[in-house]
Amino acid sequence: MKIHFFVWTILTFILHTRICQSIKWLALSKTSASLAMNQTQHCKQLDGLVSSQMQLCRSNLELMQTIIQAAKEVKKTCIKAFSDMRWNCSSIELAPNFNQDLERGTRESAFVYALSAATISHTIARACTVGDLPGCSCGPIPGETLDQGSRWGGCADNVNYGLMMGSKFSDAPMKMKKAGSQANKLMHLHNSEVGRQVLKSSLDLKCKCHGVSGSCSIKTCWKGLLELREIALDLKTKYLSATKVVHRPMGTRKQLVPKDLDIRPVRESELIYLQSSPDYCLKNEKLGSHGTQDRQCNKTSPGSDSCDLMCCGRGYNPYMDTVVERCHCKYHWCCYVTCKKCERTVERYVCK
Ligand SMILES: *[C@@H]1O[C@H](CO)[C@@H](O)[C@H](O)[C@H]1NC(C)=O
Ligand SMILES: *[C@@H]1O[C@H](CO)[C@@H](O)[C@H](O)[C@H]1NC(C)=O
Ligand SMILES: *[C@@H]1O[C@H](CO)[C@@H](O)[C@H](O)[C@H]1NC(C)=O
Repeated sequence: MKIHFFVWTILTFILHTRICQSIKWLALSKTSASLAMNQTQHCKQLDGLVSSQMQLCRSNLELMQTIIQAAKEVKKTCIKAFSDMRWNCSSIELAPNFNQDLERGTRESAFVYALSAATISHTIARACTVGDLPGCSCGPIPGETLDQGSRWGGCADNVNYGLMMGSKFSDAPMKMKKAGSQANKLMHLHNSEVGRQVLKSSLDLKCKCHGVSGSCSIKTCWKGLLELREIALDLKTKYLSATKVVHRPMGTRKQLVPKDLDIRPVRESELIYLQSSPDYCLKNEKLGSHGTQDRQCNKTSPGSDSCDLMCCGRGYNPYMDTVVERCHCKYHWCCYVTCKKCERTVERYVCK
């Protein structure tokens, strides 16, 4: 009996620590484009969903193509935003079985949670705008008055609907009773909220000119979201200044508070993490670091992709690469351009 109980305890522990991973839905990025998603049975074919997300899938089938699209966008945007960094987000491709860099509550996972939350709401809001979803349409016309010569028109991104449905889906794993440690859940929820705040504040006035031959005598304006790439850059800045926190009793409850000595609550605008990141210079599969050997670096860049920083002082090897470019372009009347293809060799560098 004792041994059984022991094994059972270990098993529950393993299950719980595994379940605390709440961005497994990013595995949807691997969903085949041919999956129809027009019957509730199709939900079972999706990878990485927890039971409450499966429930949302069944009751909001029409939303699922958009959520699959969002998972693809998260992956693409993260890899793009971190292509110049030692940690380059390539491990996001492992979804739903992440390495330690995203499994533990590191600074990197803080970024991915925030980006995921922002992206799912962004993608849903945009899908409303283009009429892909039956449950929503354009956002409301704002109460503010515009300058003379401008009027409200066009179709606003439906941020409220995006935030409502997006958070319902992406926060679902963290709202489950058995979802891992309280500290992890609080951290993930906080970082997701930071992502949504950045998205919300990116809503900006966009206008289009009308009038005789582009005179712009009339402008129609609407509230539109920034592109994801810009939102990711904003979040990357927050990633660089993220705050390490600890789970500590504050008053009657345990809360996440900054670890350093200046006693202050966690700010709503900052990303937070519980675990320090491994040294991404060196390969350590167990900790989720691929190391930077063989990564391309830039000899003249002053930034994080410079050979000095990227290669962590180990030095670099040059190699010759051929780039194909359009050249000798000629304009033909009317109206097309023909070009030749020219090859050019360039020197590139990879880290030792
Ligand atoms: C679901 O989609 C597939 C492929 O688009 C189509 O062949 C099938 O008829 C659809 N089923 C229903 C119930 O709409
Ligand atoms: C990211 O880093 C890994 C490991 O060093 C490497 O294999 C991969 O090619 C890199 N990806 C990009 C886009 O640079
Ligand atoms: C290297 O960095 C410089 C300066 O930032 C930039 O102008 C150049 O395009 C970069 N080269 C490559 C291959 O990315």
